[in-house]
Amino acid sequence: MLASVTCTAPVNIATIKYWGKRDENLILPLNSSLSGTLHQDDLKTTTTAVASESFEEDALWLNGKKEDVNSVRYQNVLKTIRSRATKLMDKKHFVHICSINNFPTAAGLASSASGYACLVYVLAQLYGVEGDVSSIARLGSGSACRSMFGGFVKWEMGTKADGSDSIAVQVAPESHWPDMNIIVLVVNDKKKETSSTDGMQRSAQTSAMMKERCATTVPERMVTIERAIQEHDFQTFGDITMKDSDDFHEVCATTDPPIYYLNDTSRYIMNLIHRYNKLAGSVRCAYTFDAGPNACIYLPQESVAEVLSLFLKHFPAGEGVQNYYRGTDEVFAKV
Ligand code: DP6
Repeated sequence: MLASVTCTAPVNIATIKYWGKRDENLILPLNSSLSGTLHQDDLKTTTTAVASESFEEDALWLNGKKEDVNSVRYQNVLKTIRSRATKLMDKKHFVHICSINNFPTAAGLASSASGYACLVYVLAQLYGVEGDVSSIARLGSGSACRSMFGGFVKWEMGTKADGSDSIAVQVAPESHWPDMNIIVLVVNDKKKETSSTDGMQRSAQTSAMMKERCATTVPERMVTIERAIQEHDFQTFGDITMKDSDDFHEVCATTDPPIYYLNDTSRYIMNLIHRYNKLAGSVRCAYTFDAGPNACIYLPQESVAEVLSLFLKHFPAGEGVQNYYRGTDEVFAKV
């Protein structure tokens, strides 16, 4: 028997950053985090999985290149999917998986989030896995669990050793705040020098800022930003988003040896946004940077035209301005 599923999944952009693990194998975080899921018109992963009795082994291709399917993360995902399967149980079925990103991979644009979210979704469909699968996506890449839902999503860090309470939960659907937009500015699409996985491990071991961040700063911000989302309070939402991005990069800079993901263009964009907000007299747009120099700007609809023209003025050839996106409620689109 041959079965096949193809699907697309979007990236998510964290406003409260996940950085540091309490369990490297189960991918359990040191802090909760929160993100918005982007509409998948542009930044998305498309994955096809085919299961067959005649395949002799599992295999995986990412953007046309064969990957090591025996890595701990793929194996954790595959084993968990198979242990919860309700389909393809009769005989041993190996699976061949083909995945492509339509945006730079590993450039700090959450490619592992959409990648593993998509992978887990297609495998869950193929093997008939029911119930919450965000915890399986988490086994592939922590941030992937947040891409399993649309709108605003939090990943509760949980406290249990087996990770059963470390799951993603939707805070609000996209339709709750349809006025919210995201502009992505690709400053550099090269693969980053320090992966998120390595970087956060080093920060957890060496940055003096981590303790307070995990114990008080992030828990307080999670409560405040969730309330800001419920109340459509962009001022608070934007303020916390920028502060958490700044703190995250400060954590990286205080890691031994230091990690620098931002470059001069990133800092130029940060200054531009602070100056714009100052002139406006309130927070009208907010930047956030993941583990790379590329800027993601959250902003309400009323600021979009002005902010886009500001970027075009400062980057006249339009280079870097990728597009602006809305959120989504429809996370997985079957192809
Ligand atoms: C800076 O989810 O890529 O984007 O769990 O090791 O795969 P692993 O890390 P990953 O880290 C993402 C870090 C971040 C912040 C975030 O998305 O919350």
